[in-house]
Order: sequence, then C-alpha cells, then structure tokens
Amino acid sequence: MSGEGIGFGKAILFNEHFVVYGVPAIVSAIGKYTVAKLNQIDKPGWTLIDERKATPNYKEEKIDQQKDSINRILKKMDIDLSKKGLEITLDGTLYCASGIGASAASCVAIARALSEHFNLNLSDEEINEAAFEGEKGYHGSPSGIDNTASTFGGLIWFEKGENQVMDKISIPAPIEIVMGNTGKVANTAAAVAGVRERRERNPEKYKEIFDRAENIAYLARNALKNEDHKELGKLMNENHKLLQQIEVSSRELDFIVKLARDNGAFGAKLTGGGLGGSIIALTPDKKIQEEVANAIEKEGFQTLQTVIGASRER
Ligand code: MEV
Repeated sequence: MSGEGIGFGKAILFNEHFVVYGVPAIVSAIGKYTVAKLNQIDKPGWTLIDERKATPNYKEEKIDQQKDSINRILKKMDIDLSKKGLEITLDGTLYCASGIGASAASCVAIARALSEHFNLNLSDEEINEAAFEGEKGYHGSPSGIDNTASTFGGLIWFEKGENQVMDKISIPAPIEIVMGNTGKVANTAAAVAGVRERRERNPEKYKEIFDRAENIAYLARNALKNEDHKELGKLMNENHKLLQQIEVSSRELDFIVKLARDNGAFGAKLTGGGLGGSIIALTPDKKIQEEVANAIEKEGFQTLQTVIGASRER
C-alpha cells in the first residue's frame, strides 16, 4: 500500500492579516506544488523524509510546528499508527519560503496522500478541512485562506467566518507575476499575534485601516474581472501601505517592493504573513516579468516567475 497527493503553493494578492478578522481577501494558487508520498513501515508512528528545496533555515525553524501539524492531520482523519507506521516523503516543485504557502501545500499534500493510502475517498472539502487542522500547527488560528487555495487551485475570493465564502474568480487570461523571497524565514503565528495586540491597543486607527482594506478587495475584484491591470497594481501598492501601517512589513520587503515598482511592475506588495518572507509584483507581460525578476535577482534575492488565475495549475 502506498499513497500520493499534491498541494499547490499560493500568493495572496489582497488582504493577508485583514482576512483573519473576516475582511474579504483575494488569493491565487500558483503552478508550483508539494508532493507527499507514503509508504507503510513496520515500526509504529511516522517518520519524515523532507526532500523539498527550501530557503536556508526554513526546515530547521519549522520542524516543531511541522510535527504538530502532521499529528493534527492524523488525529483529524482518525488514523491510527500504533501498529503499523508510515514513512512520509515530501518533495515537489515548490521551493519552500515564507509567504508562498509551503506549510499549506504540505498539509494538503499529506491529507490527499493519506486519503489515497487508506482508501478514504475524501472530497476536496474534506481534504481542505484536514489541511486546515494541520495549518493550526503552523499558524495557531489560521483564517483558512492558504489551505483553501492550496486545495482547490485557481483564483479565489475568500471570506472567513461562520459562513465561510469561497468564490472562484474567473479572469479572461492568466496574469504574469514575480514573487521575490527576502530569504528571511518568518513566523506567521507571531506576525498574526502582533497585529492582534496592536489592534486591541489602537481600535480606532485599526478600524479605519481595516475598512479601507475591505474597500480595496471589492475594487480589486472588479479590476481583475475588467483586466484593468493598472488599477489592480495601484490597489496592490495601496494594500502594501496598509500592511506597513499594521507593522507587518520589513526593511527587506519594502526594498524589494520598491525595486519591483522601479523596474516596471504595475504594483507590488508583501504577500503572506510578512516580517520577512515574500513579495508579489504584478508584471502583466513576459518582458516586464523578466525585467523585474532580473532586477530583484541582481540584488541577491531569489525570484519565481509564475502566473495568477490559471484554470489548471499544472
Ligand atoms: C498567511 O499566509 C496569511 C495570514 O493572513 C494568516 C492567515 O490568514 O491565516 C497572515
């Protein structure tokens, strides 16, 4: 018996952090993915072979969270490894960095592989629920946006809440983006906790920022549907400003964001938890995409050229 499954990486276009409080957010899966493969072993419990390529220190810093995450997924899926155990191998095309959905991609991949291995035939919704449980190992109280993108793929309008909203956004054609990696591994749980604390201390200031973030999401959805890339880029720039105001950006993130804009990106912002991690730049043309990526790499940062809004990620 063996099992295999994949989970996509993701890029949040609008409203990371705000999404934790029910503000609508827009996310896209990207064409890079993590694969999980399972093999039955005689020893009880599980062992992990992590072959994913990663930012230096990424795996070391995440190891405790990763263990907790895998145990949570197994518990949620009611899987008993007390007699026969599992060897879990992670691999795939997604280079692990903060901000690119590496934790969610691994949770989804593992949940899918377990479903196949134990013939559970889980639906995508059930895979998403198991991966959400796994994400708690990394985030504490995740909004669910990352695992949703990683499970379902495509471009998604997401609202957390009792009646969680997940609407696919169709756009006429995929749009080129560049992602830039600061090389700094960030702790999402700590970033989310910091926002919570500051929001409690400054409720009025934060309300204003959160209201504008909500507004931006609706404007961005229209811009996406109308293929108004100039407007979309402007809204990304404004979204980055709001993220700076809630103090989740960093010197490196601001530097790469500016570099992307100066080299022709229509807009750029941090993406994901911030405090290190990654940026996303809107580069709706192969030539602009290449130029922005080259400029970022010249400064010593790693990039990924991909698209948002593809109907199939691979
Ligand atoms: C992390 O990719 C996105 C955050 O909004 C956290 C979450 O939504 O769970 C920072």
